[in-house]
This record gives sequence, structure tokens and C-alpha cells, in this order.
Amino acid sequence: MAIVWNQERMTTGVDVIDREHQELIRRFNEFHDAMAHGQGRDAASRLLSFIVDYTETHFAHEEKCMAELRCPAAAANLAAHNALRRDVAEIKTHLKADGLPLVDLVKIERTLGDWLQRHICSIDVKLRECVRR
Ligand SMILES: [Fe+2]
Repeated sequence: MAIVWNQERMTTGVDVIDREHQELIRRFNEFHDAMAHGQGRDAASRLLSFIVDYTETHFAHEEKCMAELRCPAAAANLAAHNALRRDVAEIKTHLKADGLPLVDLVKIERTLGDWLQRHICSIDVKLRECVRR
């Protein structure tokens, strides 16, 4: 399912982090569209490959931001990021080898979409209180 940015539910109070989340969502939705419109495994794989790289850049940035603001959710955030990093490493290995079968791409799309929404709305938003302090 495509993800729709919801300012009230998703904002972290840090503009640059929100913009990165919006970019991540935009790229995820492109991946979703490619899958939904049968644009082929190659296009979907290329988009997924961008997302996994961008996720890492964004995670590192967000972790630094949470540490600097002494956010109480920093440890939970890091643990959640590390769990996804392990999955992403596996995905990357498969993408580099001989691509991923469509059935796996469908599964990844659903899992990643759910993860992103849940993570932003439950953990990343904890930054809000830290920015206000
Ligand atoms: Fe996060």
C-alpha cells in the first residue's frame, strides 16, 4: 500500500528529518507503483536498491540527532534501525546476486511499508518532545 504523509501523526518536529522521511516515503511509493503497474522486476529492484541505501544515510543522521537531543527513544530507535539493517543487508545480497523473485519483492514491499509507517509514528515522533525542551 502506498504511504501518505500525515503531518500530525508523522512530524518529528525536526524539519530536516521530516524531509528525509518524506523523501523515503516518496521513493517507497515509486517502488509501490512500479510493483502495482507491473513495471518489471528490474525497475522495482533499482528502486528498492535506492531505498535501502537512502535508509542507511537517513538512519545514521537520525541516530545522531536523537543522541544530540538526548532523546529517551534513542536506544529503542537504534535497536529498531539495527533490526532493519540486518534485513536490508540480506536484501542487498540478493539484489546483487541474481535479483529477487517477484514473490519476495511483494513481501518486502508490504513489510517495509508497514515498518516505515509504524516506526515513524511510534518511535521517530518521540523527537517532538525533545525539540520542545
Ligand atoms: Fe528511526
